[in-house]
Parts: sequence; structure tokens; C-alpha cells
Amino acid sequence: MPIVMQTEIVKNERVAPEHYLMQFVSPEMTEEAKPGQFVHIRIGSGWDPLLRRPISLHRWDRKTGVVTLLYRVVGRGTRLLAAMKPGEQLDVMGPLGRGFDLTVAGSHPVVVGGGIGVAPLLALVEELSAQGAQVTILIGARTRELALGVETFQATGSEVEVVTEDGSLGHAGLVTERLRQLVAEKTVSSIYTCGPVPMLKEVQRLSMTHRIPLQVAVEEHMGCGVGACLTCVCKVKRANTPEDHAPDRGWDYALVCTEGPVFRGEEVSFDD
Ligand SMILES: Cc1cc2nc3c(=O)[nH]c(=O)nc-3n(C[C@H](O)[C@H](O)[C@H](O)COP(=O)(O)OP(=O)(O)OC[C@H]3O[C@@H](n4cnc5c(N)ncnc54)[C@H](O)[C@@H]3O)c2cc1C
Ligand code: FES
Repeated sequence: MPIVMQTEIVKNERVAPEHYLMQFVSPEMTEEAKPGQFVHIRIGSGWDPLLRRPISLHRWDRKTGVVTLLYRVVGRGTRLLAAMKPGEQLDVMGPLGRGFDLTVAGSHPVVVGGGIGVAPLLALVEELSAQGAQVTILIGARTRELALGVETFQATGSEVEVVTEDGSLGHAGLVTERLRQLVAEKTVSSIYTCGPVPMLKEVQRLSMTHRIPLQVAVEEHMGCGVGACLTCVCKVKRANTPEDHAPDRGWDYALVCTEGPVFRGEEVSFDD
């Protein structure tokens, strides 16, 4: 059950040029949370901004009840969020959405994050490791300052590879080029991903070519966050019959807030 509550901010720190780590206390939320779910945050107490902002659960601690978010400042809402101070009250609704399916992971999952797309992947990696999987994480970024959470991912004990477009850290190039090498070189039991759409499209292509189960977290602009306003549709393929697999059949629209934000890789269409 999603909860709407006033929580206390305990931390809100800049960790990269445009990125902040925020922590708030909510034992109720840590009880319910699953990797891939998100919270919907009301920023300020007036009419502007009117709509809540969706931010993924980055990680949480059931012992202390502390929830951590990682977010990038892009517009008015996140700019106001970045200005909030420890001790202030935050109005959050959550946990919302359907998270990652961990049952398809297998023994060697590869987790691919691009830019701020790493945000929902830390809790996922922690949980996959806890269930005994040998996880490889590929972190893609334009440059080293934007490679987020490298040390935190390393602390999970998983294999971490960084790929920067300008070669300033780790491999040089696109994170999907490294993924292409990995799936050709070794057995990959599943792929989990979140990031910019061009990256997701290429990850989807690779997973389908190599027939590797894919779980993909997508973003859509949101209104209510709970399935009422129909703002957050994304195109999905619902293959109920063999005919539905034909390229022009079986397309439908899903609500990212309640049916996602995580979908099976082959389900999602990234074309308009
Ligand atoms: C399920 C989900 C999880 C997300 N998790 C994270 C996260 O962990 N960290 C993070 O930095 N960002 C995340 N985002 C994106 C984040 O919601 C937007 O960057 C943020 O809402 C922008 O708000 P703004 O007021 O700063 O920008 P503005 O551009 O001024 O926003 C205007 C409106 O557009 C919506 N909007 C703008 N960009 C997006 C976007 N990319 N996705 C969805 N709605 C958008 C806002 O909610 C608002 O209603 C997530 C989005 C979704 C859908
Ligand atoms: S945001 Fe309102 S239906 Fe998804």
C-alpha cells in the first residue's frame, strides 16, 4: 500500500556537478520498498509546483528507517528540492510502481546504468548479491565527474566497470559497446537496465539478439503517480497470442506509474 506522509530530511548533499543524495526517515516505507519502485514528492506547500515529482528509491535501511534518493537537478522542481535542508519536512508518497523482477536474474546478471539511470540500480544490485548472484555492473557516463556512485557500487562486492564517453575514467566509449563485448565473451544470465532512451534501445536490441531476459526501468512524465490521470503512458507489446508477435500486432499502452516503471525488455517500444 503506498503511503503519503510528512518525513524529515536528514541529508541533502551535492555529490556531483548536478546531482544530490537525499535521505529522509520513513520506517513504513523501508518496510514495503522493492528495488525499482519510486516515491512521488510534493515540493513546497503552495500551488507551484503543483505536481509531485517521481524519484526512484536508491537504497534504504530497514534498521534505521532511512531512505536514500539520488537525483539530478533538471528544472524548477528538482532545483527547489536541492535547496531543502536537513530538519525540513518532505511530503512523500510511496513506495509506488512495480519494481524489478528478481526471479529472472540467474547466476550472472549484468546491470547497466547510464547517467542518473544508476539511481534505481543500487538497491537492485544489493538484493541480487544477497540472493547469491555474481553481479557485473556497467556504469556509463559522459565524463568521470558524472560517473555516479562508483565506490558505493564497488562496496556491494560486485564487479564494477565504468565506461566514459571521453575516456576520462574506465573504458572509453559507450556503455553499450562494453555490454556488446560482455554478452559475446561470457554467459550473461539476465540484464537489468535504466538510463537514456538511446541506451535502452541498444540494450534491448542486444538482449533480444542474444535471447537474454531483460528488465528495463523507463521514465515518463507523471501526474498522479497512482493510475488515475493517464499521463504516463508508454507503448508496450502485449503478446497474448502467437499472432500478437507480428510486428504490427498487439501494441497497447501501459501506465508507467502502476504497471511499470519496470517492464520486460521485449515488451517496451521506444518508438513513438
Ligand atoms: C519512475 C521515475 C523514476 C525517476 N527516478 C529518478 C531518480 O531517481 N533521479 C532523478 O534524478 N530523476 C528521476 N526521474 C526523473 C525526475 O522525475 C525528473 O527529472 C523530475 O521530475 C524533473 O522535475 P523538475 O521540476 O526538476 O523539471 P521540469 O522539467 O520543470 O518538470 C516539469 C514536469 O515534468 C515532469 N518531468 C520532467 N522530466 C521528467 C522525467 N525525466 N521523467 C518523469 N517526469 C519528468 C515533472 O515531474 C514535472 O511534472 C524519475 C522519473 C520517473 C518517471
Ligand atoms: S501518473 Fe497518473 S496515471 Fe500514471
